[in-house]
Amino acid sequence: MSVSTNLRAVTTYRLKEMKERGEKITMLTAYDYTMARIMDEAGIDAILVGDSAANVIAGYQTTVPMTLENMIYHGKAVSRAVKRALVVVDLPFGTYQGNSKMALASAIQIMKETEADAVKLEGGAEIIESVQRILCAGIPVMGHLGLTPQSINKYGTYTVRAKEKEEADKLFEDAILLEKTGCFSIVLEKIPSALGKRVAERLRIPIIGIGGGRHVDGQVLVSYDMLGITGEFSPRFLRRYANLREIMDASFRQYIEDVKSRDFPNESEEY
Ligand code: KIV
Repeated sequence: MSVSTNLRAVTTYRLKEMKERGEKITMLTAYDYTMARIMDEAGIDAILVGDSAANVIAGYQTTVPMTLENMIYHGKAVSRAVKRALVVVDLPFGTYQGNSKMALASAIQIMKETEADAVKLEGGAEIIESVQRILCAGIPVMGHLGLTPQSINKYGTYTVRAKEKEEADKLFEDAILLEKTGCFSIVLEKIPSALGKRVAERLRIPIIGIGGGRHVDGQVLVSYDMLGITGEFSPRFLRRYANLREIMDASFRQYIEDVKSRDFPNESEEY
């Protein structure tokens, strides 16, 4: 009798093995079934149900308004589609900071309702109690250091982080602490490449960069940005693989013209 489990092919253990053999890890964000399915079938290693949904899906300026219910909605849609990749869901702002019991309850709710494989939290020493408690429940945790968008109101800017020694040293220590506590991976966002290298070389867990340079163990991008659907956002670290915004715009305009001119639908398109 064969025993089936819900485990996807890419596990946290597989990602660690990839780092050990020097194979780069690929990760993208997804928020819905259709996009996640295309990504998974293309062979992406990990999918992040990011709270960047607040920006690209809901149109908020920051990720602060994102709710647990919204993350669960997106997480469920993505999970239904994904057979192979590791699925990580962001814990949104206000569901884990300063209250480790609340953090555990939030993480458990995400894991139960979305069937994701792991959660991601932003921060280092200041949230370590929450990380510890979630890990105690057997839930894999991905850390997130450097530019942490949920703290935008504290910093007031999205510029490169940890350029100065003091902040770089704090980030380095936080990364070591997250690994020691048991995180399976860490995202480093918008920091100097040399610091990304220093962290990736020191730690045994995979370091995934978004604007973290080329020396880290893998890369993550926001799918709407790399597909060129979002137009205004163009940081240096973003490579655009398509210009879907232009294709979508042209398609919408053509559709409008076709309907107005009575070209669509034609005889072969009706019953
Ligand atoms: O929410 C998100 O998309 C993220 C990435 C920027 C890593 O956290």
